[in-house]
Amino acid sequence: MFQSVVAVVAVGTLLAPSVAHVFSARRTVQMRLKLRELEAVAEMRHAPPHPSIFMAEFNRSFLFMTEIVDFGVMKYLGDARVVKLLWEQEKKHVDMHRAGLAASRKDGDQMRRFALLYFISDMLMLRLGYHVGVCFASGMETASTTMFYTFGRLAAATDAGTLSDISLFHIFEECEHGPVTVQALKPRTSLPLRILLLPLMVVLPWAMFCTPLFTAWFGPGASSAALKHPLRTAAEFLKYALVSHLTFLSAVYVVLAYWLPSVAVPPPEHSEAAARYFEAQLKARRVLWTEVATEQYPVCA
Ligand SMILES: [Fe+2]
Ligand SMILES: [Fe+2]
Repeated sequence: MFQSVVAVVAVGTLLAPSVAHVFSARRTVQMRLKLRELEAVAEMRHAPPHPSIFMAEFNRSFLFMTEIVDFGVMKYLGDARVVKLLWEQEKKHVDMHRAGLAASRKDGDQMRRFALLYFISDMLMLRLGYHVGVCFASGMETASTTMFYTFGRLAAATDAGTLSDISLFHIFEECEHGPVTVQALKPRTSLPLRILLLPLMVVLPWAMFCTPLFTAWFGPGASSAALKHPLRTAAEFLKYALVSHLTFLSAVYVVLAYWLPSVAVPPPEHSEAAARYFEAQLKARRVLWTEVATEQYPVCA
């Protein structure tokens, strides 16, 4: 209970200043990004032991799907090599996910159950032309800090399951570079198109977090877990449903507060605080990396 209160206060602290921020005076904040070489990537696909089949499924869907957003950011940054390190971070995310996927496929899970969602997301983000794609890529990057932080804090507080090391590492770097990405991509979008695409932009975070509620039943070991422990599985379902839908609501809020208005970039301080939260967890799990480059980018927030 105490943990839940702390998590709600932490998430609330992240969300509350948004309205004031949109209308406050602009300022420049230096954001430091780092390029990291991970050790033992394939092993990172496993989460520390936890019975929730829904969070395990989130880790698998995240492993399978998220490269689309990484590719979207890389594609629409295009020749904006002034943020070269950001481009390279996203490229490393793709490599990390593909290494994890290859290892998972060797274990026997082909994850074809995500193929339709992959196809739709791929169409929206990468195949419907520059103007549509850059809107969705900037939208997902705008929402990333708030939705991942909400998801991570509430999942930990309610014991709804454990993120895999790959999910945790990717989420960590998404928080680290969120505002830099939004600043690079959002000026390439237009307000009329953002208004037009708003309903679809809201559906994407819902699909990202809530898909496991449906597909987990077809994931490895799910049927035997549900048969052996029906009550525990029902409780896990309810917890995951609660956390994923609260995360979805936080994403709607941040899309309306920061993506739709032309002036707003998410507060860099929030992204830095969220990144430090996830980095501390990675260090506690002894996930090892080497920092190979550092760059600093000014963000006008
Ligand atoms: Fe990424
Ligand atoms: Fe990103």
